[in-house]
Amino acid sequence: MFSRRQFFKTSLAGGAAALVGNTLKAAENPGNSQATSMLAECEVPARKGKSVLGLRTKPLKTVRIGIIGLGARGGGAVDRLSQIEGTEIVALCDINPDRVTGAQNTLKKRQRKEAASYSGGEAWRKVCERDDIDLIYSPTPWEEHTPIALYAMDCGKHAVVEVPMCLSVADCWALVDKAEEKQLHCMMLENCCYDFFEMATLNMARQGLFGEVIHGEGAYNHNLTAGKFKSYYKHWRLEYSKYHTGNPYPTHGLGPIAQIMGINRGDRMEYLSSVSTDQYSLAQWAKENLKDDERITQSQRYKLGDMNTTIIHTVNGHSIMVQHDTSTPHPYSRIHYIQGTRGMAVKYPAQRIALETVGGGEGFLKEDAQKELLAKYEHPMAKYIGEQARKVGGHGGMDYIMDWRLIYCLRNGYPLDQSVYDGAAWSSLVELTERSVLNKCVVAVPDFTRGEWENFPPLPVIDMKDVLHGYPDQILR
Ligand SMILES: NC(=O)c1ccc[n+]([C@@H]2O[C@H](COP(=O)([O-])OP(=O)(O)OC[C@H]3O[C@@H](n4cnc5c(N)ncnc54)[C@H](O)[C@@H]3O)[C@@H](O)[C@H]2O)c1
Repeated sequence: MFSRRQFFKTSLAGGAAALVGNTLKAAENPGNSQATSMLAECEVPARKGKSVLGLRTKPLKTVRIGIIGLGARGGGAVDRLSQIEGTEIVALCDINPDRVTGAQNTLKKRQRKEAASYSGGEAWRKVCERDDIDLIYSPTPWEEHTPIALYAMDCGKHAVVEVPMCLSVADCWALVDKAEEKQLHCMMLENCCYDFFEMATLNMARQGLFGEVIHGEGAYNHNLTAGKFKSYYKHWRLEYSKYHTGNPYPTHGLGPIAQIMGINRGDRMEYLSSVSTDQYSLAQWAKENLKDDERITQSQRYKLGDMNTTIIHTVNGHSIMVQHDTSTPHPYSRIHYIQGTRGMAVKYPAQRIALETVGGGEGFLKEDAQKELLAKYEHPMAKYIGEQARKVGGHGGMDYIMDWRLIYCLRNGYPLDQSVYDGAAWSSLVELTERSVLNKCVVAVPDFTRGEWENFPPLPVIDMKDVLHGYPDQILR
């Protein structure tokens, strides 16, 4: 495994070598030399176990779950998971014992058995060590995700963690290596892949309505400034903002776009370039709202630029733009814009679709036509479980669809929709964007699949009759 320092050393050496070696080629093909030199730098460590792309595991009649982290997100997960058939919540764990009591009350309300209670800093290890658990589900703060997932897999459990899966490229590799070594699932809980419009556009893309999808845009533009100062365990979001820039939260916008564009399955992210504005809004908010608070003295210390914009190039010659802004006032947006050779769709600020087949794609579909189209291309999974999901809730239902699908796949031994490679590639942007911003350079994205992306078709849209009566083999690949 490369340390960050080793990586930079290798980068410089590799970059210079590649430039020398490519002098003639660059002259014939001006503009190509710099990118070629950066791509030559991306070291891929040797594989330690078999690939887990398309991993099938032993079907579990009941999925026995240990939930670690019972804050805003974990509390909701307890409620959702206890409403899914085939689950048993065996253990509940949080540093704070009151959170555990709160979650036990949720189980009682849902007429579920009381779970074993764990509290305190290292109690999560005891949960992982239990021999009556199949799945560790961890909505903890960012820095806890990697140690918990690694230890869970060491203890023979499938591991799912909240977004982002991890904060560094080294941790991405560690999680990929561990999943391959143990042949277990390690999934990032990217719920936005299961929102209704995102799933419908995935279905439309697979049915060819957009032609070749050449470009996508996603974002996490959500003003969390006040919340950063007031909530979260030990203000973990604010703490991160003090020391880092780039895009620390890239996966909500990127995940659904990456699935549509076949990232890690037929294509992969090759290199990126990222820029951040300076930081203004956190300091402004601190000055105006924390007058007598000691944090006023820190009001100039935040490193996280207000707006980060990243452009990614894929091996197949497509592009993706990802944005992050959790500081300035604006309506919530994940953008979700996909552009194909035969049409486009965008979700924020308003859902709009334009297709070549209707008016040559020069105007958006009229409201009724769009409604009809979205109904026709509703994702079969949304059709099957959407009503229940809307009832249970969790970001309008997408959280429930994600959990339901995860449990469904584990109960049947099916591959998960999001592999460890997806979690790694999408989360690697946390470090790669920061590196690009600080060094003012193009950065290569590692191939976490180690070449396997070429052997898998893009994530298919599963017909529910296949789901209910067994997948055809080609889908399981
Ligand atoms: N997918 C989404 O839509 C979404 C939305 C919000 C947050 N998140 C993610 O969920 C995670 C948690 O966010 P949150 O808003 O619930 O934060 P939070 O601060 O409200 O909750 C975190 C909880 O983890 C507990 N905790 C911290 N360290 C622990 C440890 N070592 N062992 C056991 N418990 C520990 C804290 O006591 C707290 O109860 C983050 O990774 C965040 O990015 C995802």
